[in-house]
Amino acid sequence: PAATTAASPVVSASPSATGTPGGTVAYDKNHAPAVPQPELGKKYSGQKITYYGDSVGAGHDIDMVLATQFTKDTGIEINVVPHPQSSDDTYAQYLRFFQGKSSDMDVMMLDVVWPGAFAPHLHDLSSALGDLAKQHYDTIVANDTVNGKLVAMPWFSDFGMLFYRTDLLQKYGYSDPPATWDDLESMAKKIVDGEKAANSNFVGFVFQGAAYEGLTCDALEWLASTGGGTLYEDGKVTVNNPQAVAMLNKARGWIGTIAPKGVTSYKEEDARNVFQGGNSAFMRNWPYAYNEGQAADSPIKGKFDVTPLPAQSGQKNVGTIGGWALGVSAYSKSPDASVEFVRYMTSPDVETWRAVVGSYVPTIPSVADSAAVLQAMPFLKPMASVERVPRPSGPLGDKYNQFSTYFFQGVNSILNGQDASSVVPNMAQQMTRAAG
Ligand code: GLC
Repeated sequence: PAATTAASPVVSASPSATGTPGGTVAYDKNHAPAVPQPELGKKYSGQKITYYGDSVGAGHDIDMVLATQFTKDTGIEINVVPHPQSSDDTYAQYLRFFQGKSSDMDVMMLDVVWPGAFAPHLHDLSSALGDLAKQHYDTIVANDTVNGKLVAMPWFSDFGMLFYRTDLLQKYGYSDPPATWDDLESMAKKIVDGEKAANSNFVGFVFQGAAYEGLTCDALEWLASTGGGTLYEDGKVTVNNPQAVAMLNKARGWIGTIAPKGVTSYKEEDARNVFQGGNSAFMRNWPYAYNEGQAADSPIKGKFDVTPLPAQSGQKNVGTIGGWALGVSAYSKSPDASVEFVRYMTSPDVETWRAVVGSYVPTIPSVADSAAVLQAMPFLKPMASVERVPRPSGPLGDKYNQFSTYFFQGVNSILNGQDASSVVPNMAQQMTRAAG
């Protein structure tokens, strides 16, 4: 596809079927929207800020296009540095910057589970961006507000979902995607048995099984969808229960059967590479993988769809809540220029553009409901009714990171072969200590 030289979004004269006048807005991934109020940023023209941005999927390329546009319109220069691909590695890196009161990081992506922990190190955005924040979902703004201080601006939301190969389901006689984890197991097994001869790399199910924050998200979904609880409820760690133990052992049974052995070291991109390469029937991932899978050069373009993650029969489908906000370091030497960059990045125009070119879920309701976004992300409406499960970072604040680390380490050791009934009691004790 040829890159256009026009600014984006551009209005192209696209005659509708009925011949009524009007046009459609075209979104070009190589051209970001213009800065809505460039005069605000121009006051700081010539300043240079460092932004710790995305590193997963097309995230970094998209950041570069946005930063280039922002510099063109305001004269503020942006040094874009991709954060580590693992959320908890990024957490550790930022912690070092913050503890050293470093001014080497001005703007940064903040995982939805961090505002409580990092609030003391973040610039209060209330006076500059508080009014704009009112356009975003209240719940996300509440998550980014700590002791009355707006420490981050919502940027995009995330939730876990099941990606599946429509062509293979049809080939093996399935009219619907799996509703339960048992269905997923039997369907994956049948499809692998059939495909293995032609493709020895073919597997049934890939997900985030490495010992990192992503596994906390996946395993929370396993538990919450099978009556195993949501980790921490009413001030108590709830993982030590028979349903949770049974489900974790069920997941252990996937390794080396429907899932590759290597899945115990997979993060988002490892899973996506297998699925997008045409080598897996099912994948658990976040919405960004949708746009990537539909790219012109994707082997599975037009051959997959998304649906809620399975649940045990009688239980609700769930998806762990993820997402990222943008914050400004309290130690930045250019806080005003930094705020202007955040203003641009979280604007309705940019959220619309990112949704269309990268399937990032908007945090502004009017953007999420717009025709362009619903067309680019047809799953938004059907997925809206799925129960969203938060990780307990709200109540745990700066204790969440250690709490989650004990959980994902324990779950990873189960996936690697240990019996859940021997791991979970100790894991629960560690989690209780971390929460204490
Ligand atoms: C996604 C989510 C984030 C989560 C991470 C785990 O980036 O948006 O909230 O912590 O995945 O890998």
